[in-house]
Amino acid sequence: MNNFEYKNPTKIIFGTDQIKTIANEIPKGSKVLMLYGGGSIKRNGIYEQVMSSLKEFDVIEFGGIQANPEYAILLDALDLIKLNKIDFMLAVGGGSVLDGTKFLSSAALYKGDNPWDILTKRIPTLKGLPFGTVLTLPATGSEMNSGAVITRAETKQKLTMGGAGLFPVFSVLDPNVVSSIPSRQIANGLADSFTHVLEQYMTYPIDAKIQDRIAEGIMQTLIETAPSIMADPSDYKAAANFMWACTMALNGLIQKGVPTDWAIHMMGHELTALYGIDHARTLAILAESHYQYNFDTKKEKLAQYAERVWNISEGTIEEKAKAGIQKTTAFFQSIGIDTKLSDYTKNYKGTAKEVASRLEERGLIKLGEHRSITPTDVEKIVEMAY
Ligand code: NZQ
Ligand code: ZN
Repeated sequence: MNNFEYKNPTKIIFGTDQIKTIANEIPKGSKVLMLYGGGSIKRNGIYEQVMSSLKEFDVIEFGGIQANPEYAILLDALDLIKLNKIDFMLAVGGGSVLDGTKFLSSAALYKGDNPWDILTKRIPTLKGLPFGTVLTLPATGSEMNSGAVITRAETKQKLTMGGAGLFPVFSVLDPNVVSSIPSRQIANGLADSFTHVLEQYMTYPIDAKIQDRIAEGIMQTLIETAPSIMADPSDYKAAANFMWACTMALNGLIQKGVPTDWAIHMMGHELTALYGIDHARTLAILAESHYQYNFDTKKEKLAQYAERVWNISEGTIEEKAKAGIQKTTAFFQSIGIDTKLSDYTKNYKGTAKEVASRLEERGLIKLGEHRSITPTDVEKIVEMAY
């Protein structure tokens, strides 16, 4: 196992009827900016619950942070923060609202002239404006991590940011919120969280038994829960397991002390930037070709995954590893997610070159756990996913 440090300061408040507790978590007398997305919270009762628990605070609202949070819209919120001297933010939504709030947390205290530099120059945020979250969509893990992904439509860019200052102070995880989520977004949550585990697991063996077993447990939980939560999102038991699995998949725990490979995500973000494909679906498009292309360096872990997660006990390491890849694709398809780029766009020709050159322009020329995946490899992997 590699050396590591681990600190996760986010307080998780999990369970039914917990939204009302947020008033106890926000410093008294704070001027609060409550941020939300396209309006689902106004249709499912979450808005009323949040506003009623904020009644003793001076609250300003900012809605309209849509999927793949847009820089131009966030700049309007930044003006509001400065104008009103906001001292605490509350993000109520899915990964997009949470990530948008993280950008604002960083930008509000940023001393430079151009907040876009935080993303292009990859400036880590060591201190941000404090914020809490009420998660409405299990998927990204943003509620308990310090990363964010921001989109700029003008330049078709989708870039990552982060830093120790961007953990939420608290996150409320009430599984009842899952009941109103459309099946497309539930499937996205399952595929995104599943791939988060894969990206921190599918590398090479390093005898990190705890990390492996926790990762395998999260994947097994997602596989086991998928049919129930897809069939009935108001199934509280399934929703609770789905929600906690998504958080555990990307709160930093399973990646400590082990090699990681975020290549599927880095390539996937480009597919969203180019075609607007849902984040999770870009991962399902790329996973199979990534694992096939890098088969030799990943086959031991692929075989372990096939054995322990999918109960494949017969065959050589290679045969098990191949079966593991097939099972992964079949899992995505079983929840209604198409796994080829051509299922999403007719204009896919040239995509592979475009993705490779976009990553190269940003200096992302050594991807993978061995830092051996070059732009030429990226091109081949994306082409295999057509
Ligand atoms: O905007 P509203 O009207 O609220 O509707 C949203 C949105 O249309 C809807 N929704 C959310 N909760 C709902 C609900 N509808 C009904 N009932 C509810 N309870 O779902 C739609 C999608 O929401 P979004 O927040 O975009 O989804 P998700 O949580 O999948 O977030 C995706 C974003 O997170 C980034 C992705 O790249 C993408 O931009 N990621 C963030 C990560 C992180 N911070 O750690 C890691 C991930 O790998 C990912 O990259
Ligand atoms: Zn993801």
